[in-house]
Amino acid sequence: MNTLLRIDSSLRIKDSYSRRMGDYFVKQWILKHPDGSVIERDTAKKMTPHLTQQTFDAFLNENLYSEDLLLSDKLIDELYKSSEILITCPMYNYGIPSSLKAYFDLVIRTKKTFTYDNGIKGLLSGKKAHLISVMGGIHSLPGGMNPLETHLTSILNHLGITDISYFPLESTASPERISEKTELVETAIFKYLN
Ligand SMILES: Cc1cc2nc3c(=O)[nH]c(=O)nc-3n(C[C@H](O)[C@H](O)[C@H](O)COP(=O)(O)O)c2cc1C
Repeated sequence: MNTLLRIDSSLRIKDSYSRRMGDYFVKQWILKHPDGSVIERDTAKKMTPHLTQQTFDAFLNENLYSEDLLLSDKLIDELYKSSEILITCPMYNYGIPSSLKAYFDLVIRTKKTFTYDNGIKGLLSGKKAHLISVMGGIHSLPGGMNPLETHLTSILNHLGITDISYFPLESTASPERISEKTELVETAIFKYLN
C-alpha cells in the first residue's frame, strides 16, 4: 500500500503558502492513490526537541537511555512505513526552519537510517520525496536550485533517497501576481501526479 508521510514546518498555521500547496499536493495524491494513507508530522505545531549530548550518546550506545530516543525511534518508524515523503518548507533566515532541522537531527542515525562502513550508505532507498519550498524573495540561480532544495537534497541523499521532485515558490513577499504564481506551482504538482 502507498503511504505518504507529510512533514510541514511553517510557523504560520493560517495563510501559509507552503501548507496551502501541501494541502493541494495531498488532495491530488489521494485522488491518485484512493487506497493510500497519509501520516502527518508537523514540526511547527509539535516542536521536535534539539539533539543533545545525552540523546546523541544514546544513538551510539544502546545501553544508554534518553527520552528523546523514543521519539527518534517513532519518527524513524514513520519514515520506514512511508513509500513517499512530502516536505513543505519555508525559508527562514536563509535556511530551513530550525524545527525541521531538529527533526532531521533526530532521524539521521547510524545503523538506523544510514550506515558508515565504506562511505555513507542511506538505508531509505527506494522511497520518493517531494519538496515544496517557499520563500519571500528570490534565492535560486537561473536554472539552479534554491538553498532549501540544496540542503534538503543533501539530507535526503544521505538517507538514500534520490528520487526527488521539486516545487519551489519564490517572492511570496511581493503581492503582485502571487495567486498566479501559486497556481503555476499547483499546475506543476497536478502534472507531476497525473
Ligand atoms: C522568521 C522569518 C525569516 C524569514 N527569512 C527569509 C529569508 O531569509 N529569505 C526569504 O526570501 N524569505 C524569508 N522569510 C519569508 C518567508 O520565507 C515567506 O513569508 C514564506 O512565504 C513563508 O512560508 P509560508 O507562507 O508557508 O509560511 C522569512 C520569514 C520569517 C517569518
